[in-house]
Amino acid sequence: MKKTLAILLAALMLIGMFSFASAEAKTYKVGVSIYQYTDNFMTLYRNEIENYFKSLETDDVKYEITMADAKNDMAEQTNQVRNFITQGMDVIILNLVQTSSADAVIDEIVAADIPLVLINREPLAYDADGNTLDESYAGILNNAKVCYVGADARQSGTFQGEMVAALDNHGDINGDGKVSYIMIEGDPENIDAQYRTEFSVKALTDAGIEVECLDDQVGNWDQTKGQELCANALSNYGDKIEVVFCNNDGMALGAATAIQTAGRKVGEDIYLLGVDALPEAIDLIKEGDMTGTVLNDHIGQSHTAVDVAVKLLNGEDIENYYWVDYVKVDKAYVDAQ
Ligand code: GAL
Repeated sequence: MKKTLAILLAALMLIGMFSFASAEAKTYKVGVSIYQYTDNFMTLYRNEIENYFKSLETDDVKYEITMADAKNDMAEQTNQVRNFITQGMDVIILNLVQTSSADAVIDEIVAADIPLVLINREPLAYDADGNTLDESYAGILNNAKVCYVGADARQSGTFQGEMVAALDNHGDINGDGKVSYIMIEGDPENIDAQYRTEFSVKALTDAGIEVECLDDQVGNWDQTKGQELCANALSNYGDKIEVVFCNNDGMALGAATAIQTAGRKVGEDIYLLGVDALPEAIDLIKEGDMTGTVLNDHIGQSHTAVDVAVKLLNGEDIENYYWVDYVKVDKAYVDAQ
């Protein structure tokens, strides 16, 4: 009798242990490296990656996120990726410092058999002479567990130009038959900077509007730099400047300060355009201190990136490219919100 009881007890304990083990949550390790924490837009983006992962947690599934600041330094980012590999991350989300280093980084991650979601900075296909090709990038296409989540920067540039073309004077404030503009560019290595620069102006010329570029400078997505470059251009070209195109809102916020300091007034004697739809830029549009911006949907992009990371964790098939649309944001749009 005693023996039967002891066996029964042992069996019960075993069952208990098993059910306890199966109730324990599965924790996935996620490594995220962001090109630079001080970037306004990528700050919204990375915070939403964390929030959204947390919102997907259940009693059974948890996500342990290790987020790293690559400080705009490719060597630093390569180290972070190597650490992620050693730490045995289950998936990596990567916002590259330099897209030209994509091959090297992807090779190491693929060799470690870790799925990879690239975000925000699209690696490009190049020919032997280093020219950008209008083709999808082999490093992504040839790998079943690698993808890119982003937005087509051509669309954002086009929207900027279209907002100017839609103005009553089509951007030609002084009525001399052409739109005289300055361009403040993001990091020239990024396709976002290249396409926004090209397509904003193309939207004007496509609409039959003549343009004149007074100045084209690199502000590296940075607000302080945007302010400095715009202030210089305003002192060099004065009233000749009718439109200030900035490749992002960070630089446009700086430009807005420079415009105010120079005693100019947006909507009256100058127009100012950005991209991202940062809350601060929306406020400026509301007050009439910025002409327009383009929503770079960090919510849509971060959620897509996390959703596809989860698919990869579940061993599901994925696409190689995921695109999120931009949205035109002018005063009418802001007022209607
Ligand atoms: C762009 C964004 C910029 C900057 C850049 C970083 O899409 O508009 O503000 O964040 O990405 O790569």
